[in-house]
Amino acid sequence: MHHNAHGRATLGGKLSAVLVAAGSSVGLGNIWRFPYVAGDNGGGAFLVIYICCVLLLGLPIMLAEFTVGRASHRNAVGAYRALDRRWSLLGYNGVLAAFLILGFYFVVSGWTAEYMVHSLTGSLAHFTEATQYKAVFENFIQNPWRPILYTCLFVLATHAVISLGVQKGIERSAKVLMPLLFLILIVLSVHAVLMPGGEAGLRFLFRPDFSKVTASTVLVALGQAFFSLSIGIGTMVTYASYFKADTNLRHTALNVTILDTAVAILAGVVIFPAVFSVGIEPSSGPSLVFITLPSIFNGMPWSMVWSSVFFLLLVVAALTSTISLHEVITAYLHEEWHLTRRKAAWATTAATALLASVASLSLGAWNGLELFGMSFFDALDFLTANILLPAGGLFTCIFVGWKLDQQVLRNEITNRGALSFRIYGLFRALLRYFCPAVMLLVFLDNLGVF
Ligand code: TRP
Repeated sequence: MHHNAHGRATLGGKLSAVLVAAGSSVGLGNIWRFPYVAGDNGGGAFLVIYICCVLLLGLPIMLAEFTVGRASHRNAVGAYRALDRRWSLLGYNGVLAAFLILGFYFVVSGWTAEYMVHSLTGSLAHFTEATQYKAVFENFIQNPWRPILYTCLFVLATHAVISLGVQKGIERSAKVLMPLLFLILIVLSVHAVLMPGGEAGLRFLFRPDFSKVTASTVLVALGQAFFSLSIGIGTMVTYASYFKADTNLRHTALNVTILDTAVAILAGVVIFPAVFSVGIEPSSGPSLVFITLPSIFNGMPWSMVWSSVFFLLLVVAALTSTISLHEVITAYLHEEWHLTRRKAAWATTAATALLASVASLSLGAWNGLELFGMSFFDALDFLTANILLPAGGLFTCIFVGWKLDQQVLRNEITNRGALSFRIYGLFRALLRYFCPAVMLLVFLDNLGVF
């Protein structure tokens, strides 16, 4: 185990920083959320706006979060507090958002685990029609106890990794299966594109139709970009607090962003041709991938094998993301409330398992449980991605661009002058002016101010 001068754990080599951060970023946000949100918002035009959000807002904000984390070596709340007392509120926003995200993320993670088991036993291979898969999915998520069982198993798996500690647990698990996920997505995308009627899906994803764009499209794309990159709530602050002094922050941010976006686009290339080929609506919402994927596998030789391996990888991708969210809360409770790490981890585990169980029930047995006119489950997703994450991102920009000692920023980005950064001026301008202005405009626009 490596330790830095503060006696805190640090991560191994250069690869590790990229891998753990990519492990956090790549997850259900790419494979489950991106296709359904893109499908719901017109496809191609959404993709264009999404990519602009990733490059112009996501990348600078990730770098800003890395800076805060490594400059302070603390959890999200402690980090902002150490740099400027009044800004600890931004850290609290992060801890709250991590908790609420886990409330629905653990549920979807549970679904992927259930689908993995059903792939292994072959019970998913019995059907032929997309409508049958839809029925199977709805039947499953509305069951009062089965999804909760899988959700709780998933929470416990996350807990197990967290309690192994930063280096052994988080680093190792991120290292193993990421490349494999990439590979299988490529195979699947080739298969999906060749399905009859598949070109319609590619056209939907890559031919922008800007007449479908509204004020909310931009906010949804912004929220999805932040969600997918794991920024806006201090996850990257927490992870960067474990980075070493010679980790190149901007290479790390750039690599993670490219990897994450590539996985999301690949997922789109897998899902949309299949959506059009089997004839379901691209705007089917959260159930989209759970209906299309089994249909894709069904048409492949060795369908059981493909489907089992794919859902296994999805489980792992989800796990490396739930770990990062869990760690935000655990590190906060451990360092700010002075609980032992063990107790902090158990408190987080118990509270998130409870919230996730309620969210799961809100889709079936307790379907009267609604908030803002949607199910409790959907409300958690909506509130975090469209409000808490963009708000967190906005204030992160203001903090790092305006409040933080600019020498600290420069020191972290250039590793105290050891690295040159030719577009540092552009980066700072984005952080100080462009990002806050765009996010404010998007917020005001959605509030109906214009
Ligand atoms: N980015 C992850 C995904 O795409 C989810 C996630 C992990 C996340 N940590 C986060 C989302 C922090 C927002 C903020 O699946």
